[in-house]
Amino acid sequence: MNDLDFTGKTVLVVGGSSGIGNGVAQAFRARGATVAVWGTRDQGDYRKEDGSDLTGLTYARVDVSDSVAVAAAPAPFDSLDILVLAQGTVLYRRGEFEMDGFRKVVGVNLDSLMACAMRFAPDLKASGGNVVTISSTAAYHAARGNPAYAASKAGAVALTATLGQAWATDGVRVNGVAPGLVATKLTRVTTENPDRLAASLKGIPMHRLGTPADMAGAVLFLASPLASYITGQTLIVDGGLTL
Ligand SMILES: NC(=O)c1ccc[n+]([C@@H]2O[C@H](COP(=O)([O-])OP(=O)(O)OC[C@H]3O[C@@H](n4cnc5c(N)ncnc54)[C@H](OP(=O)(O)O)[C@@H]3O)[C@@H](O)[C@H]2O)c1
Repeated sequence: MNDLDFTGKTVLVVGGSSGIGNGVAQAFRARGATVAVWGTRDQGDYRKEDGSDLTGLTYARVDVSDSVAVAAAPAPFDSLDILVLAQGTVLYRRGEFEMDGFRKVVGVNLDSLMACAMRFAPDLKASGGNVVTISSTAAYHAARGNPAYAASKAGAVALTATLGQAWATDGVRVNGVAPGLVATKLTRVTTENPDRLAASLKGIPMHRLGTPADMAGAVLFLASPLASYITGQTLIVDGGLTL
């Protein structure tokens, strides 16, 4: 028996249209799952060279910052086994010091996690399924230019713990992954600037960036029967960054 074989399982990756979520979605597909992803754009706008491989995935456009749209969104499958919440956004140039910007980031990075979790809670309770959230190591330290990002990610860690506790008796596990630095469109401002990249690498004991595949490994583990007695936890996957 292979505990990392997801054949016959259905997976929805919110924010699975690009970056880390896309890597997670493709990792589940490679291990036999039927996978749907949500993103913000028209399907034709996504390109492999930008970190968006929709091959073999069912795609739907759902703006999860709108909780009414989340509640009304059609379920991708008749039943759901695994819900991955990988949506996220950030504002640079002090945008998060304006209340509109602050609310926008918290709306995507925290409020929408709750909206999506609630939307699919009945399906997950019916299947005995589980949730994996993607927060960030920014949950655990200050982030000078990004108060909404840091606060929302700390909130995501707390939400993961609380839903894990609340839904344990329903047979639904809720866990999370907190990535360090991964090159995606969210982090281009750092990873495509040689000076900033070099400074970032200095702070990572493993001396390399993380990849979507690195994050997917932890998500697969948490979603699998190997993690059957783990709930409410967020696993830091950062090459030692926070040590
Ligand atoms: N990259 C890192 O170093 C890093 C580190 C720590 C944590 N994280 C977290 O990892 C997660 C994935 O980020 P990423 O780095 O992979 O960046 P990304 O490539 O920009 O992926 C973000 C995903 O969220 C989706 N999304 C954003 N706003 C949305 C909305 N309102 N409704 C629906 N979907 C929405 C995006 O859709 P589109 O494809 O349509 O834009 C995309 O699929 C985020 O939660 C991020 O905070 C990333």
